[in-house]
Amino acid sequence: DRTATHYMPQQSDLDSLREAAKCCHACDLHQFATQMVFGEGAKDARIVLVGEQPGDREDIEGRPFVGPAGKLLDNALARAGVNRNEVYITNVVKHFKFTERGKRRLHKKPNSREIFACRPWLEAELAAIQPEAIICLGATPAQALLGRDFRISKSRGQVLATDWCKRTVATWHPAAILRMPDVSRREQMEQQLVGDLRLSVA
Ligand code: URA
Ligand code: SF4
Repeated sequence: DRTATHYMPQQSDLDSLREAAKCCHACDLHQFATQMVFGEGAKDARIVLVGEQPGDREDIEGRPFVGPAGKLLDNALARAGVNRNEVYITNVVKHFKFTERGKRRLHKKPNSREIFACRPWLEAELAAIQPEAIICLGATPAQALLGRDFRISKSRGQVLATDWCKRTVATWHPAAILRMPDVSRREQMEQQLVGDLRLSVA
């Protein structure tokens, strides 16, 4: 089966990668999404944040973390003293996956084949940036970078070395915090997200 490797450009800079990813057909997701959503941010970023895949809003705007989860992330970054303009934000999977419910498009988790197919884009982004810290937002990026057996519930907030960077930290996905019905638990998770962001930039 094809992976994104098949669509890699000659040049490995971020602009060339983004252009090339627009033509990626390594999995079926490109057929249904509005557009490819590549990572964005500072080319000399010291910190890279990695989410799962674009959501409904991101698919429409063509930018990562601009919907409700993005608003929560923006707020957490501000509380952690991190400027969004100084980091690079991306996703493991670059096309939105959804099921239609009437007029609404509900997010669907990417499967392992889609994650495997898309992963070369993330690896190329990390190779181009060579960040000092990587923050995995939720299980999908954590398992992609820290191993299939990684559990956020068990190892959240630990600073771990990976092939890409000495400081890799996994934390809650902002969307998981938004879905939490219990208010005090939600506030606790939000505080942990802020703490993990602070820790990773320390
Ligand atoms: N959730 C993600 O994982 N990524 C986005 O870009 C938006 C929501
Ligand atoms: Fe390519 Fe990733 Fe889009 Fe699949 S989701 S078509 S692998 S860019």
